[in-house]
Amino acid sequence: MARTVWNSTVGKKTVMAVSGLVMLLYLVAHMIGNLKIFFGAGEFNHYAHWLRTVGEPFMHYEWTLWLIRVVLVVAVIAHAVSAYQLSRRDIKARPSKYVHRKPRASYATRTMRWGGIILALFIVWHLLDLTTGTVHSGGFETGKPYQNVVDTFSTWYGNTIYVVAMIAVGLHIRHGFWSAAQTLGVGSRTRDRALKTTANALALLLTAGFLAVPVGVMTGVVS
Ligand code: HEM
Repeated sequence: MARTVWNSTVGKKTVMAVSGLVMLLYLVAHMIGNLKIFFGAGEFNHYAHWLRTVGEPFMHYEWTLWLIRVVLVVAVIAHAVSAYQLSRRDIKARPSKYVHRKPRASYATRTMRWGGIILALFIVWHLLDLTTGTVHSGGFETGKPYQNVVDTFSTWYGNTIYVVAMIAVGLHIRHGFWSAAQTLGVGSRTRDRALKTTANALALLLTAGFLAVPVGVMTGVVS
């Protein structure tokens, strides 16, 4: 049964929609958490510490965080694998034999594919930059995310990478949220306008909220 669903196009689209919504929830929480940087180093670093102790004493140190990480990794893999397989199917199904010009995927589809690749690369960079510190520009200090974030946005390439990625996040959510709603059967003639507005508002809110941090550092509001 599960196999039949997974092998069907609609099954893969459902996996994409659900995993996408899980990641969207994470992004909303992450963006709100990031904005705490405007309340100063004490509050931001304390928040990072809380992320590791949440659920105590029932949960051990970092258990909740690891639980979230596992859910996110599963969501990322499910999203990427189904995206890849759906693209392969789409390319194979193209009747390009008898026409001169290959029919290309729509603008939205191409944006989603490129955007997805950019975001996957960004997530790897971001983890190596602010979680492990492997590619960090300054002297990375675990437990001191405030200074780590300021260091990142004090370099031209840090700002460039993040600004490009945040625009990709916005575009991806704008179309992805809309597609997920259609796949999950929420769309209808009466609801489509509201869904489009919600998708646009979410995309704008997330892009602006995330961009506020590098802009804050670049303008000296956060230093
Ligand atoms: C300007 C935008 C962003 C800033 C300033 C930022 C900042 C940070 C910081 C400081 C951490 C480390 C937190 C800690 O160790 O306590 C972190 C972790 C993380 N961020 Fe971001 N982030 C941004 C955008 C994003 C975006 C767009 C995504 C996803 C597409 C993302 C995904 C993650 C993930 C998965 C982690 C690892 C969480 C963990 O397992 O510890 N971030 N971010």
